[in-house]
Amino acid sequence: MAEGAAEASAESGGGGSDSGASAPEPGVAPIKSQYLTTKEQFHEFLEAKGQEKPSQGVELDLSGKLYLAPLTTCGNLPFRRICKRFGADVTCGEMAVCTSLLQGQTSEWALLRRHPCEDVFGVQLEGAFPDTMTKCAELLNRTVDVDFVDVNVGCPIDLVYKKGGGCALMNRTAKFQQIVRGMNQVLDVPLTVKIRTGVQERMNLAHRLLPELRDWGAALVTLHGRSREQRYTKLADWGYIAQCVTAASPMPLFGNGDILSYEDANRAMQTGVAGVMIARGALLKPWLFTEIKEQRHWDISSSERLAILQDFTRYGLEHWGSDTQGVEKTRRFLLEWLSFLCRYVPVGLLERLPQRINERPPYYLGRDYLETLMASQKAADWIRISEMLLGPVPPNFVFLPKHKANAYK
Ligand SMILES: Cc1cc2nc3c(=O)[nH]c(=O)nc-3n(C[C@H](O)[C@H](O)[C@H](O)COP(=O)(O)O)c2cc1C
Repeated sequence: MAEGAAEASAESGGGGSDSGASAPEPGVAPIKSQYLTTKEQFHEFLEAKGQEKPSQGVELDLSGKLYLAPLTTCGNLPFRRICKRFGADVTCGEMAVCTSLLQGQTSEWALLRRHPCEDVFGVQLEGAFPDTMTKCAELLNRTVDVDFVDVNVGCPIDLVYKKGGGCALMNRTAKFQQIVRGMNQVLDVPLTVKIRTGVQERMNLAHRLLPELRDWGAALVTLHGRSREQRYTKLADWGYIAQCVTAASPMPLFGNGDILSYEDANRAMQTGVAGVMIARGALLKPWLFTEIKEQRHWDISSSERLAILQDFTRYGLEHWGSDTQGVEKTRRFLLEWLSFLCRYVPVGLLERLPQRINERPPYYLGRDYLETLMASQKAADWIRISEMLLGPVPPNFVFLPKHKANAYK
């Protein structure tokens, strides 16, 4: 368990992995080792103090922090390192599928890796059943070093939804409750949940679920202000998020949706949310975290942007390896990211500030060759950029981005 979480659990009366064991209270049997390194020792410690592990989750204070959203494919460890450098406070691993973790799939376990720069870090789980989710939480509790575990109840994709996971849990309250309570019971770190407004448009469910989630022991909830049906069409409903802040209180609510400038972030904070989560905004411009913290627009140059890509490539080769396989993996993930980066319009070229996330970026000529190349919506141009950083692509190379995630056709 990381330091912050140990502090939080100590605050909530639960002790922590390294708290209190060396100086037992009078009448309390000393614990064998100086540190409480396993969950069993932790329970033994509580038992000796005549305390049960609280069924309510431990607190998680992330107030005012900037949270980089969990992002399948794009929110890999090298990308998160980039965002950390630009000021992201909280990071989270890409969604990991509970059953794949239980089956021991190496690629799924790799999604839980944390870089030392990620000082407030969580992992996200997806699953539909209380028994497997609780089992998985128990396994994570013993094996990974995280500050919180998040449950993905916002995932809209058919594959997940049809099995009763992701967003479907918003309509399966009995199972949802068992999952949250069950996981909470076995975790020593706070449990958080990410939800949407609801499944269908104009059928908001979040305001009714939030008080329940609070009672079930969720430490924090993030609300993406759109329904499953909406996907990325229409703007996130921040008016509704504001209503939900009250429904969730005193449990902290993070708001999520459409933040691409410091003005967007300021408006979002005015709804009373404890903090904001940023997804596509970080993919389009990871320096958004700096812009928010410094309350400014950054007219970043194409060479500065290329330097960021160079760093990503370096981190990628460190993470995935610098052999042929590692290079090609780094390239794939770079290309996925470039499919978002090309939507950024440089500040100095905008007629009206700031850029909005739901507006189609216009075709424009950059201030130099590189800026124009970076604005290209063509996969062939993204491949050219990858070749500048990683050398020529292998023969017959093709690339199709996995995500679209925009409001326009
Ligand atoms: C490429 C991509 C991958 C995503 N992967 C996840 C994920 O693994 N888990 C999750 O809860 N949400 C995921 N989301 C949703 C985002 O976390 C976020 O809720 C959504 O994009 C709305 O925020 P935004 O308007 O700031 O983009 C993903 C979004 C995108 C664009």
